[in-house]
Amino acid sequence: SVNEYENRPIVLVGLMGAGKSSIGRRLATQLGLPFKDADTEIEAASNLSVSEFFNLHGEAAFREGERKVIARLLKEPRHVLATGGGAFMDPRTRALISKKGCSIWLRAELDVIYKRCMKRNNRPLLKTGNPKTILKNLMEARYPVYAEADITVDSGDGPHEIVVDKIIAAL
Ligand code: S3P
Repeated sequence: SVNEYENRPIVLVGLMGAGKSSIGRRLATQLGLPFKDADTEIEAASNLSVSEFFNLHGEAAFREGERKVIARLLKEPRHVLATGGGAFMDPRTRALISKKGCSIWLRAELDVIYKRCMKRNNRPLLKTGNPKTILKNLMEARYPVYAEADITVDSGDGPHEIVVDKIIAAL
């Protein structure tokens, strides 16, 4: 029913640097809901940073841990959940999010993403080559899949308040 859908966790998906965590935190405050961050939960559960986890266990193990964390969070009462940029790309994780959540793709242009990622380059996937080229390739591979989210909102270069208002209007 519509009511069931309205009670679902709001799950933010999209590329790293799209603003999932910072916009998600503001959105949660505005809606009076708890805010959860999948990357932070993985870090807490493993006692490793995301980079350390990738180095130590590899990406496949990270995706598995990420799926378990997201499966657990999706059982919790309604909240705003920021996921890591690769979460929605994993078919099993995507199926979970589609079944239990209301997914929102925060879409942004390459230059915005690049600028935001360079402010604090702690992303393991950007350390393996030229970051802008990597981001461009990730965009091409991922945007058609992110587009499967329930709602798409443009996350421009402007103030986060505006993006939050756009999400609330779209919910
Ligand atoms: C990843 C994005 C990161 C983090 C990991 C992998 C990805 O999360 O989960 O580095 O595959 O795009 P953010 O999107 O929060 O940076």
